[in-house]
Amino acid sequence: MEQMTLAHTDIRISRLTVGCWSFGGEAGSYWGAQSQQAVHELVAEALDSGINTFDTAFGYNDGRSEQSLGEALKGRRQEAVIINKIPLQTTEQLPGYRQAVEDCLKRLQTDQLDLLLIHWPTRDLTLLRANLAALQSVKESGLVRAVGVSNFGPGALQVARDMGVPVALNEIAYNLMTRGIEAEVLPICRKNQIGIAAYMPLMQGILAGKYESLADIPPQRRRSIQFDSRINPESRHGGTGAEAEVLILLEAIRQISAASGIPQSILATAWILARPGVSTVVAGCRSVDQLRENAQAVETRLPADVLAALDQASQPLLEKMTGELDLWQSGAASRIW
Ligand SMILES: NC(=O)c1ccc[n+]([C@@H]2O[C@H](COP(=O)([O-])OP(=O)(O)OC[C@H]3O[C@@H](n4cnc5c(N)ncnc54)[C@H](OP(=O)(O)O)[C@@H]3O)[C@@H](O)[C@H]2O)c1
Repeated sequence: MEQMTLAHTDIRISRLTVGCWSFGGEAGSYWGAQSQQAVHELVAEALDSGINTFDTAFGYNDGRSEQSLGEALKGRRQEAVIINKIPLQTTEQLPGYRQAVEDCLKRLQTDQLDLLLIHWPTRDLTLLRANLAALQSVKESGLVRAVGVSNFGPGALQVARDMGVPVALNEIAYNLMTRGIEAEVLPICRKNQIGIAAYMPLMQGILAGKYESLADIPPQRRRSIQFDSRINPESRHGGTGAEAEVLILLEAIRQISAASGIPQSILATAWILARPGVSTVVAGCRSVDQLRENAQAVETRLPADVLAALDQASQPLLEKMTGELDLWQSGAASRIW
């Protein structure tokens, strides 16, 4: 598996990052139950094939994702790069920042994180600056090797730059249905040598062509701004979505796949990595087979005509979603700025 070094760090990440949101899940969790045995097999397969990067968060399954990953990395920790994300800490929580990071190190059974990111920004500038300062201080104390951010738009990135925080990575949604970062975020990150970790490459499976119709997509995977919130109680964006444009895109991907002989999931993931500035794609994998297919996608170089066809097919949806960066909240309620 191809790896790349993040600018201004000595951290080499694989172009495929294993998304660990489902790890430690139980019945009733967002992704349902995932056994520790399944996590062990996935992590071992990833490491054996040179996929060294794992993305978890304090918030995934209330710390059980971190615990599960830590268990699975026992004896092989030095082969892995762990990206972890800390929720924005309130003013009351900030004095406990270092302790919160130490608690996460315990759950992960390690003594240092490779990358720690702020999971979501806030528009409260004082609080954002205080969180960025706390992040920088845990780096200076050696608890983490490098720091980054997640879901940061142009304004929040500027705040970090003004403070001199050495942001190595911005983890943000990017896929054929979600191209909002192309206008500003991607160029800013490229100019400032901030890596992009593109999350949700398959739009939770929708871009892999596994659903015959929109109605077949489980409601929780249809909560995002592209879908009509009026018919989905799990949705919170309140908008009418862009379902006609989604259908145009999904049908075009089906046709491009049939004509090229390239599976839809491979088209979707390989398209992302063909964009300059993307360092890694963060893909949730529920099985070793999915991991292998996503790894194959990362190593696939799509022909120029296929890339152009995918660009064109996703253009109407991109235009309808102009200015939208937050997958779940739109307009003034967007948390990404
Ligand atoms: N920073 C953030 O705010 C943020 C937000 C969201 C996600 N993330 C990170 O990004 C990761 C990926 O996001 P995600 O899991 O929501 O979306 P995703 O990677 O687009 O979709 C993952 C799901 O798609 C299906 N799948 C995976 N590989 C497949 C393949 N080759 N063919 C067909 N289906 C396949 C699996 O679901 P089924 O088999 O169950 O259908 C899997 O759980 C997360 O694990 C997390 O680490 C970060």
